Amino acid sequence: MSAPKLKAPRGTFDVLGEQAQERVTLEARARTLLEGAGYERIETPTFEATELFARGVGESTDIVRKEMFTFTDSGDRSLTLRPEGTAPVCRAYVEHGMHKRRQPVKLWYLSSFFRHERAQAGRYRQFWQVGAEAIGSDDPAVDAESIALLATLLSQMGVRDVRLRLSSLGSPAARAVYREQLQAYLREHEQSLSEDVRSRIELNPLRAFDSDHDGTKRVMQDAPRLLDALDQDDAAHFAEVRALLDEASVGYEIDSTLVRGLDYYTRTVFEFTSDALGAQSGVGGGGRYDGLVELLGGGPTPGIGWAAGIERILLAGEHPHLTTSPVDLFLALDGPDARRTAFRLLQDARSAGLHAQMELAGRSLKGQLKHADGLGASYVAIVEDGQSVLKDMQEGSQQTIRSDTIVHAVLRGLRTL
Ligand code: HAM
Repeated sequence: MSAPKLKAPRGTFDVLGEQAQERVTLEARARTLLEGAGYERIETPTFEATELFARGVGESTDIVRKEMFTFTDSGDRSLTLRPEGTAPVCRAYVEHGMHKRRQPVKLWYLSSFFRHERAQAGRYRQFWQVGAEAIGSDDPAVDAESIALLATLLSQMGVRDVRLRLSSLGSPAARAVYREQLQAYLREHEQSLSEDVRSRIELNPLRAFDSDHDGTKRVMQDAPRLLDALDQDDAAHFAEVRALLDEASVGYEIDSTLVRGLDYYTRTVFEFTSDALGAQSGVGGGGRYDGLVELLGGGPTPGIGWAAGIERILLAGEHPHLTTSPVDLFLALDGPDARRTAFRLLQDARSAGLHAQMELAGRSLKGQLKHADGLGASYVAIVEDGQSVLKDMQEGSQQTIRSDTIVHAVLRGLRTL
């Protein structure tokens, strides 16, 4: 009896074949776009001190309250698999004294993240994000540039039916005044609200805008709006972000009910959705976090960024043009004695920059030729010891040559193609 089979854990998946190729394409596009705009790649650890997220993302958020994969290591430290990338990037900014560099410091990443959410199409427990953070400037042009870059990436990836929702949360001070206003309004209408919203009036009243509950939705239609409560500086900042987006022809809808699931946001917030996605329609989102670096022990430092879900981009995108690497040379074995010669030639061919493969599965010569054909090899060498037959698969011609001249002959042949 064979041993029972194991499956990937719930909410996780393997990336295979074409999907792997699509990801390579996406990563290449993101790199070209973001590095062209001055973003540098950053990698941070897969797990961090739990406190980083408790402080950075916020104790009252769903992420921190119920979605983190948290464990205690043997040194009794509480660690958490990163649920998002902004807090870790800001931690790294502080830890490495990046305030001493030219500002804003622009950093991008493409990594996997972990949230213990109910798994469904487009929502996973390990998922991938491409993200970009610009830290050290509060110029509205940084906001507009950041948003425009994500718009461009989504368009380059062929993401269909994209909408951009935009809002401003203002400064913490203005938000505190507004918060009290909203709390008073919610208490007034408490009997029509959902259980969940009612229990969070004190902790996180803004989340009421996010509710699916019918009664709550009705109440929220007439609720006071944060956008109307912005102070003068924040309102001017937001107006300039909008003007710059208009200038760049990036279309958006102002949505004063836009709520993001993380507590660090100040001023500009945005979310890209795709109607092609169904329930999990958020493809990417972000905003300003002017207090986060300070909250993590750095000096007062503004910042803005976004992250977009790789799986959702690929789900909502047209299939990018896949480029598989061509095989220049396939080394077929005419008898088992040829293996060592072929192996040496394989190394020589790769050192010379050729995409080369050799027979690895003990097929018959006929089977090997069929396999090489399936790979689309440009040349096939049937390797004997000293002499080999080199077949030009495009022309259908062949010649018998010394085995140690094969690589040279293929290089010459490919040059004349
Ligand atoms: P977020 O909105 O939580 O923002 O996530 C960004 C994107 O990650 C979402 O729009 C979605 O595409 C994808 N995503 C999130 N959760 C899942 C999941 N369980 N399964 C699949 N995809 C998912 C952030 O994470 C912020 N750090 C963005 C940011 C960067 N703000 C400022 N800088």
